Amino acid sequence: MKDQIQIYIVGSGYVGLVAAACFAEIGHRVVCVDNDEAKVQMLREGGVPIHEEYLPELLNRHRANRVEFTSDLKSAARAAQAIFIAVGTPQSETGSADLSYVDAVASEIARSIGDYKVIVEKSTVPVYTNEWIRKVVERNGVPQDLFDVASNPEFLREGTAVVDFLHPDRIVLGAQTERAAAVLRAIYEPLTSGAYYRVDHAVPGPRTSDDPPPVLLTTTKAAEIIKHASNAFLATKISFINVVANICEEVGADVQDVARGMGLDSRIGPKFLRAGIGYGGSCFPKDVAAFRHVAEQMNVDFGLLEEVEKINAEQKRRFFQKVRSALWTFRGKKIAALGLAFKGGTDDIRESPALEIVEMMLREGALVRAYDPAAAARASEMIPAGPQMRYMDDPYEAARDADAVVILNDWQEFAELDLPRLKKTMHFPIIVDGRNLYAPQVPLELGFTYISIGRPAAHGLTVSVERAGSDLRRPAMQARAFVPPRIAPLVGCETQTGTLARSEGA
Ligand code: UGA
Repeated sequence: MKDQIQIYIVGSGYVGLVAAACFAEIGHRVVCVDNDEAKVQMLREGGVPIHEEYLPELLNRHRANRVEFTSDLKSAARAAQAIFIAVGTPQSETGSADLSYVDAVASEIARSIGDYKVIVEKSTVPVYTNEWIRKVVERNGVPQDLFDVASNPEFLREGTAVVDFLHPDRIVLGAQTERAAAVLRAIYEPLTSGAYYRVDHAVPGPRTSDDPPPVLLTTTKAAEIIKHASNAFLATKISFINVVANICEEVGADVQDVARGMGLDSRIGPKFLRAGIGYGGSCFPKDVAAFRHVAEQMNVDFGLLEEVEKINAEQKRRFFQKVRSALWTFRGKKIAALGLAFKGGTDDIRESPALEIVEMMLREGALVRAYDPAAAARASEMIPAGPQMRYMDDPYEAARDADAVVILNDWQEFAELDLPRLKKTMHFPIIVDGRNLYAPQVPLELGFTYISIGRPAAHGLTVSVERAGSDLRRPAMQARAFVPPRIAPLVGCETQTGTLARSEGA
């Protein structure tokens, strides 16, 4: 691999820390700065503040030689050739991205510039941010020929961020000058040349030396838009399939068959068509709102994104109603909530639909026993443990005497539950699965009532159900019904898939 480049990263959150570890892994020398002294100390001592596969290994491998942590922005930045800004861009009250951290960091960087540097936006920012950074640096007295501002958006998913970084679909480099582009190209050269994939310790992933990632060199504005548009498009795909799932529920079709059928069309693609309880996390909700706001400012009508947000909010409410339909009322019911993070594989609870649904159940008087392989500590800061809410150490403990198990995120562990064991511990064998982790036949054959998203509900006992008022659109059918002894037979979804959907629509 080529000579190392001195890289400086401001911000040691998910993006900054993963980028620091991965840049070191591909041979560069990295200083990671954060103004949180306690975090810096923890990182120096070998701690890893986030749950991310391969990150502890990479930090251990490079901490002693190629990665350094500091809270001293100015002195460390002096030696850097490229300074990456990876600070937070939270959502402001108006929905736009709050760029005050970026602004503050740009001023600070300006004070440390003595020779040529490329300042690279890595945080997700609205178009024109690079121009603002340029203005801020210039206002602080730095001559134009001593710096360039570039944009290098990241497309990392939490939980698989290291693999996504080292085996990307594409590398987007937005630069206005050849000088800046050359520095960025050199930084990613170990990946784009394929050299990294030949080294012994390379993190495994889809890329190989024969199939290295492509580079897209664009203007900075295009790079900024690529990031927002990609996240907004993926969120749109999710909301789209969630509405399709709701139609499937109404007609008794399986959304997974539909998604498979759509995804086989190479123009559509199979990814991000998993119906569920709506998207969450620190990126999609914020970025959809921010992109909508950018469009508004440019006087462009992007009402589509408002719909995407509306559908996403409705999907959580709809799932909550589904749990209610299975239990009739929440007050005093014991519910095992499996999943707290916004998705499996992470401890991140920001904008977590799982947590939102737990909160709704608590508000209605349910007794929640929650389990998540990684997110319980963070969740307990938001929802403290108490008589109504308890955090358990394993899913079977959470399910003890439960009236229902509710699956809220997609940890692999939840897709591999020992269902007979789970059933034995539960009061009623009801699973409401917000992530479609099981083929309905599997829990059904074990005697569970299994309710999922966009698929016919599966029930434990075979009972012939007469459909009143059936019409051509929804032909009368034989449904498998299970009426738990403690629950009154008012429960819509206990007898008919279509009934469940109808009661939700009210
Ligand atoms: C997302 C993007 O996927 C990354 O490319 C991007 O870099 C990142 O945001 C970012 O901007 O930093 P992430 O937020 O980690 O990554 O999570 P995803 O895996 O994209 O999932 C987002 C949400 O959508 C989760 O709540 C997930 O459960 C949900 N989802 C995802 C679905 O409901 N259905 C799907 O088919 C896929």
